[in-house]
Amino acid sequence: ARLVVLVSGSGSNLQALLDAAADPAYGATVVAVGADRDGIAGLDRAAAAGVPTFVDSVKAYPTRDDWDAALTAHVAEHKPDLIISAGFLKLVGKRFLTSFGDRYVNTHNALLPAFPGIHGPRDALAYGVKIAGATLFFVDAGVDTGPIIAQVSVPVLDDDTEETLTERIKEAERRQLVEYVGRLVRDGWTITDRKVSIP
Ligand code: GRF
Repeated sequence: ARLVVLVSGSGSNLQALLDAAADPAYGATVVAVGADRDGIAGLDRAAAAGVPTFVDSVKAYPTRDDWDAALTAHVAEHKPDLIISAGFLKLVGKRFLTSFGDRYVNTHNALLPAFPGIHGPRDALAYGVKIAGATLFFVDAGVDTGPIIAQVSVPVLDDDTEETLTERIKEAERRQLVEYVGRLVRDGWTITDRKVSIP
């Protein structure tokens, strides 16, 4: 299966997928990596693995809709079976969702529906929850609202800082991402009334 991965930052989730895909038994290959900005480690990781990259910066297009069209076209060129937002910090538009909404997944560093948005671990810590975690879900038109594929929990420790909690979550998040992307591409899935099932 063909994976396109979208990144905006360090790309540690991307790296986990690249490492997993090195084994043919995994059943998927990262065929391209897209970003919304230059100069990020995620793009370097792709280049180091010999994976083609593209950058579509919102600023490079006259309107958000033009950006969405360009991103959609660039992703489509690679004929993906699954598209993975792995720390991609942009909300895609209608066109992207119309083209790929049935196979665009995102990993979020909180246990949704709690703590959506870009500060999952910080918000969880500030709230005082005792269990945090990560959620893999199919992206819909909302912010972190789509059908949930899998969740993994980690404890919040008394002496946690935003950094230590973020790291603990990311470690579990990467394992979950690799496991479930593999299962999705190998076994397929159905979504009925928001319930995702993998046979
Ligand atoms: C992940 O924890 C993701 O949940 C959050 O940003 C992080 C991306 O990390 N939205 P990386 O770029 O994969 O290292």
